[in-house]
Amino acid sequence: MTEKTYAMLKPDAVAAGQVGEIIARFERVGLALDRMELAEVTPQQAAANYAEHEGKPFYDGLIRYITSGPVVKLVLSGEGAVALTRKLMGATNPAEAAPGTIRGDFGMVMDANVIHGSDSPESAEREIAIFFGETES
Ligand code: RTP
Ligand code: MG
Repeated sequence: MTEKTYAMLKPDAVAAGQVGEIIARFERVGLALDRMELAEVTPQQAAANYAEHEGKPFYDGLIRYITSGPVVKLVLSGEGAVALTRKLMGATNPAEAAPGTIRGDFGMVMDANVIHGSDSPESAEREIAIFFGETES
């Protein structure tokens, strides 16, 4: 089924000059770039995106990190876009992500794991509204 997902190249990927190579991987499998923007994540957007993790030991560091510098916000669309994007990303911890995945090839540590991708079509809809919605500030 054709669907949309939200993906975000995190500050470490932008700072390391990995944007082009990562986006090329999405284009190579045929995902379409519906939206793309370089921007800083606001504290409000960070809190909304990571609401499920509030109270966990890594939460404060996660918010600090995702707001620490520019990110590349993406809306990708195509057949099974949500699962396909997660597959290309690889495991959450780059140390465990398989070679050939984005996190396996471009990251080293959990705290700076290169990329975010929505984990379900429902999350995608919510996250696209957070990062590209009318209420974006
Ligand atoms: P994301 O939301 O960023 O796409 O990553 P994910 O679904 O693969 O992983 P999730 O469980 O949603 O965790 C969100 C982000 O929090 C950081 N994290 N650190 N130290 C830890 O145990 C830990 N667990 C999660 C990671 O940066 C992860 O991407
Ligand atoms: Mg997640």
